[in-house]
Amino acid sequence: MGSAMSRWASSPSGRLASRIAAVAVALGTLGAAGCGPSDATPASRRRPDAPAPTRPAGSHVFPAAAAPVLDDPSRDAWQRPDDVVAALGIARGQRLADVGCGTGYFTTRLLRATGETGHVLAVDVQQEMLDLLARRLEPADRAHVTLRRNPPDRPLEPTDAVDLVFCANTLYEVSDAMLTRFVQSMADGLAPGGRLVVLDWKPEPMRLGPPLAIRLSAARIRELTERAGLAFTQDVALLPTHLLLVFTKPTPAPAK
Ligand SMILES: C[S@@+](CC[C@H](N)C(=O)[O-])C[C@H]1O[C@@H](n2cnc3c(N)ncnc32)[C@H](O)[C@@H]1O
Repeated sequence: MGSAMSRWASSPSGRLASRIAAVAVALGTLGAAGCGPSDATPASRRRPDAPAPTRPAGSHVFPAAAAPVLDDPSRDAWQRPDDVVAALGIARGQRLADVGCGTGYFTTRLLRATGETGHVLAVDVQQEMLDLLARRLEPADRAHVTLRRNPPDRPLEPTDAVDLVFCANTLYEVSDAMLTRFVQSMADGLAPGGRLVVLDWKPEPMRLGPPLAIRLSAARIRELTERAGLAFTQDVALLPTHLLLVFTKPTPAPAK
């Protein structure tokens, strides 16, 4: 069934269905049948010792042509972006990265949280998304936001040394072949003591969201981040639809 799923996902109709489902993420209009394949076993029903299933190959990147739906006002009701950002306890003046920033739905809120002495590095694999984000920034905010188009497996650089990496609704779009390097890059881009925050769709059947088969379980996200040298810190139970997981980069012990 797995290879049939892969063939489906990488076929033109599968790619189209994935794209429609991705658009439905923000529109919130599709019923369960439209949310993608329902034959993926939800993580909660899988045996704990079962190996992580292989996710369908192919690109699941949210199409830039559908970007306006990311800012549809109806999204605020289920995404609760202000509550999400408030839950992170961001201090004034912190340096933040928004990985997979899209049109900047969270970027501008992160910017407000870090204030006029802070900075947000907004990273996306699609230049069209960065262009849309550039257009929404107020002139006074421009000096506090850096826009960067990244290679698909390397969102951040070790020299970025940010205090917090925020990665929302993006990890599920990264293919299995790149996930380990992608997460390692986010860990490498953190300053010691910095935090990685992953906000992503729960792998459970629901009316909204991308196909179940491409979502990641909390256990898989923990495995990837812990392998990248981060420590699990917090599971914030805020949204019924999303995982909100926090990881911390250890501070090296002082040299004796
Ligand atoms: C569903 S959108 C979410 C955008 C934004 N975080 C939000 O919640 O509104 C996912 C974004 O991740 C970006 N993306 C997908 N794969 C990526 C990768 N490998 N590196 C950086 N960005 C990526 C897409 O271009 C898209 O803008």
